[in-house]
Amino acid sequence: MEKIRDLALLSDILPTAFHGLMEAGAKPGSTVYIAGAGPVGRCGAAAARPLGASCIIVGDYHQDRLDLVKNNGCETIDLNQDVPLTDQIEAILGEPMVDCAVDYVGSEAHGIGREAEDMNPAYAINQVMDATRAGGATGVIGVYGPNPLASSKAEQEGTFSLDFGKAWIKSPRITGGLPTSARAAGSSGRAPL
Ligand SMILES: NC(=O)c1ccc[n+]([C@@H]2O[C@H](COP(=O)([O-])OP(=O)(O)OC[C@H]3O[C@@H](n4cnc5c(N)ncnc54)[C@H](O)[C@@H]3O)[C@@H](O)[C@H]2O)c1
Repeated sequence: MEKIRDLALLSDILPTAFHGLMEAGAKPGSTVYIAGAGPVGRCGAAAARPLGASCIIVGDYHQDRLDLVKNNGCETIDLNQDVPLTDQIEAILGEPMVDCAVDYVGSEAHGIGREAEDMNPAYAINQVMDATRAGGATGVIGVYGPNPLASSKAEQEGTFSLDFGKAWIKSPRITGGLPTSARAAGSSGRAPL
């Protein structure tokens, strides 16, 4: 039990974060947007560096979480500001888009932020798709599965309002879920031996 946090980090949080970057096609020189500075997003920010990302931008509403990644050399975006995400990315990169982006938020976090009252549970994933350049890719690590405990019928059923019409022109590639090895093992999520 003494090592349980380390085990959780090594067996779930870090590999999950890395998987998101793989799905988003992060490679040397990529500009990367990380949505969410929770444990998983922070591991994504850390993993983007050895993958060679030229700029790692992390967005969140929590300044204390953003400070942690800023101390590790990431650019940060405070989403409480009344400035669209793409404008904030432009202020950092000189263009309003990144090569790849990963949603490390999930639908359960939609009650956070200025628009919390009427925020679409897919708010983060729509932001991330919007910020990804044409031909780029979006990894979705945040969980968007059906949630029987959610208040709205859409969330209970796992149907979300993706802004696909806006993204369509950019030939979006979006990958969610578990790593391929786990998918191949079936719904248990256990990797094949
Ligand atoms: N796919 C997998 O195998 C897997 C494994 C582990 C965790 N997860 C999921 O990853 C997600 C993140 O996990 P966590 O433990 O870091 O969660 P967390 O709740 O600690 O962190 C999520 C962060 O996202 C921020 N946030 C909310 N809306 C945002 C937005 N629009 N843009 C940017 N940031 C926003 C929140 O302020 C919060 O700091 C959860 O959905 C979790 O279930 C998936």
